[in-house]
Amino acid sequence: GAAHDPRRHESAHKHVSGEAVYVDDIAEPAGLLHVYLGLSTRAHARIRSIDLSPVRQAPGVVAVFTAADVPGVNDIGCMGKQDEPLFASSLVEHVGQPVFAVAAETRDHARRAARLAVIEYEDLPAVLTIAAARDGERTLVTPPMTLRVGDADAALAAAPHRAEGRLAVGGQEHFYLESQIAMAVPGEDDDVLVHVSTQHPTEVQHIVAHVLHVPSHAVTVEVRRMGGGFGGKETQSNLFAACTALVAKRTGRAAKLRPDRDDDFQITGKRHDFEIDYRVGFDGSGLIHGVDMLFAARAGYAADLSGPVTDRALFHADNGYFYPAARLESLPLKTNTVSNTAFRGFGGPQGMVAAERVIDEIAFALGKDPLEIRKRNFYGDRDRNLTPYHQTVTDNILPELVAQLERTCDYWTRREDIRAFNRTSRILRKGLALTPVKFGISFTATHYNQAGALVHVYTDGSIQLNHGGIEMGQGLYTKVAQVVAEEFQVDIDTIRPTATNTGKVPNTSATAASSGSDLNGKAAQAAARTIKERLVAFAAENWGVPAEAVRFERNRVWVGDRDMSFAELVRAAYMARVQLSATGFYKTPKIHWDRAAGRGTPFYYFAYGAACAEVTVDTLTGEYVVDRVDILHDCGRSLNPAIDRGQIEGGFVQGMGWLTMEELWWDAQGRLRTHAPSTYKIPACSDRPRIFNVALLDDAPNREDTIFRSKAVGEPPFMLGMSVLHALSDAVASTADHRLCPRLDAPATPERVLSCIMALRQRA
Ligand code: MTE
Ligand code: MOS
Repeated sequence: GAAHDPRRHESAHKHVSGEAVYVDDIAEPAGLLHVYLGLSTRAHARIRSIDLSPVRQAPGVVAVFTAADVPGVNDIGCMGKQDEPLFASSLVEHVGQPVFAVAAETRDHARRAARLAVIEYEDLPAVLTIAAARDGERTLVTPPMTLRVGDADAALAAAPHRAEGRLAVGGQEHFYLESQIAMAVPGEDDDVLVHVSTQHPTEVQHIVAHVLHVPSHAVTVEVRRMGGGFGGKETQSNLFAACTALVAKRTGRAAKLRPDRDDDFQITGKRHDFEIDYRVGFDGSGLIHGVDMLFAARAGYAADLSGPVTDRALFHADNGYFYPAARLESLPLKTNTVSNTAFRGFGGPQGMVAAERVIDEIAFALGKDPLEIRKRNFYGDRDRNLTPYHQTVTDNILPELVAQLERTCDYWTRREDIRAFNRTSRILRKGLALTPVKFGISFTATHYNQAGALVHVYTDGSIQLNHGGIEMGQGLYTKVAQVVAEEFQVDIDTIRPTATNTGKVPNTSATAASSGSDLNGKAAQAAARTIKERLVAFAAENWGVPAEAVRFERNRVWVGDRDMSFAELVRAAYMARVQLSATGFYKTPKIHWDRAAGRGTPFYYFAYGAACAEVTVDTLTGEYVVDRVDILHDCGRSLNPAIDRGQIEGGFVQGMGWLTMEELWWDAQGRLRTHAPSTYKIPACSDRPRIFNVALLDDAPNREDTIFRSKAVGEPPFMLGMSVLHALSDAVASTADHRLCPRLDAPATPERVLSCIMALRQRA
């Protein structure tokens, strides 16, 4: 069958040959205008005056747009929050905030003209960092959340041992290969068609409708594919779509906006950096009695998704560990920097690194191997399976999964070898760490857990498939096509996945939270089953056999002992006026969440994994290489093991990049100075582990009734990158005989590794 087949991505050949059509490859309509944005150069300032006449007079310029030109609401805030103006008019709140747009005959004209504006500012005090926000008024962009289980203070007070500290973990630029882009084509009346690289066409539709002051039915948003999103196009594409739609409707000409990479870096939000204060109480065996953690995040100037992102940090502050008592609080701090947003893991990674730091503190305090402490604290049965959000963990497979990886990667032998190596090696030091991942699957905004699909069977037997999910390289279109091929028992080439379009499947959720194939796979299955049931009923009646005697097999259909091609059956059904098109719908069962009470079942199930990393550090320079990584990951009964392996490898490397080499750096004026590949380093091929063993957990069907018992895979492997941070920490610790917890913060750039070694020497 097609399900579980390790087949290639439906567009793989087009990705490498260049035939895959992205927004910038769509044939441009005649008269297309190119749009560019004029940006704030101040972090926080009142705008005294704006003189745009030099922009208007520049060669090739056709029109200039400011807040005053917006017919509807001058706002692009997500989820109905109105705290993000499309164009700033009297106040700017970060460097890079759009103030106006210019439309010109060529992109070069528009770019040059955008720089000619004369804006007078009156600077206001700017809050740029978490520290400044925390020490200042602590303005929040959105209400914080607290999770409570047991009495954390009492548990900490009564525990035989205590440790406390602060962990800093950096942000991350998405660096999707295809930058943000939108092209709007005006239609008649108030209609507009927007081609945009977005994870969330329905929200783009709503925002464009509000900005233009038209009903949603006037706005159609279409996305065939994206060259990566990673969360960076869940809300951040709203701006570009709204801007081009505005230009298109005001000028009557099609309009396209593609910022260059430096501008994309400065205009769009990133992963939130966090500072996490933790206290833990534990006993001599390493068992945790209670934790208390405060998660302070740099949210930037507006809410965007900072609420749900900081919530998810708390949901994952346990990683795979049982806390008998816990208090977990979020602090989404307002700063005069770009508004931070979704990024693979959605705050979960920041929560998990705190859990792993706490494990490290305990291990060093007791002089034990961190892996022992991890295993000691895994969720267990009955009285050890309640999360801080009061969901019971019923599908925990970490003990078995970690035991298996521990064996296959030869953890304890290598631990001995590394100790021996470090005893005699003065300058080079090795480190080893095995870290687990437990990741909750479902949107915590419960209503997002729904999806629709639309399947058409044509009279030649070919099938068109449409659903609400976005293809961003993760293989969603391939997986959903596999589901439909499996239902009809036809070759997958019979099925054509078509561009996601708000006019075909409406009211969709963002493709995010790793739930794309869970939701859209089930919706497409439902649509296919509806058509199949009609075909079976028709065949049974037409040829006078019981319904059970109609079987679909390898592009053919058996009706009793008569056999015909799928296309022949379809044609006969059409002649008999059987409807060959159907919609499908799915909503995730069982989940609910009460945020105010901090209680519920926000997740349908958990995805698990573990990674073991070995590194070598040069203790004179802080430079390092990743020698070997072994991964064992749980994809349930994988829908497509080849694509899932790609997600695991890519996710791991992206997570490793976040925790090691990717560093965002703002200057004292709030200008991001790492805004291009020359200064912002993402992992290259040569940074991948020298030995990289990736395995999918065998024989592990999802215990819940997900699509063919698979598990979501998009985000969970990202957090396997933690193994590299902890292997580095282990190597660093060897320079002080493992007597002190290195407290290595992230990103662990060579500079930070070196200063951590030096600090450790001073403390020792
Ligand atoms: N893989 C590729 N190639 N490109 C991407 O942009 N985004 C990730 C992940 N894997 C991404 C990716 C993120 S952040 C999510 S939430 C999921 O894919 C979304 O897709 P899914 O729900 O279909 O897994
Ligand atoms: Mo992914 S951060 O949920 O888009």
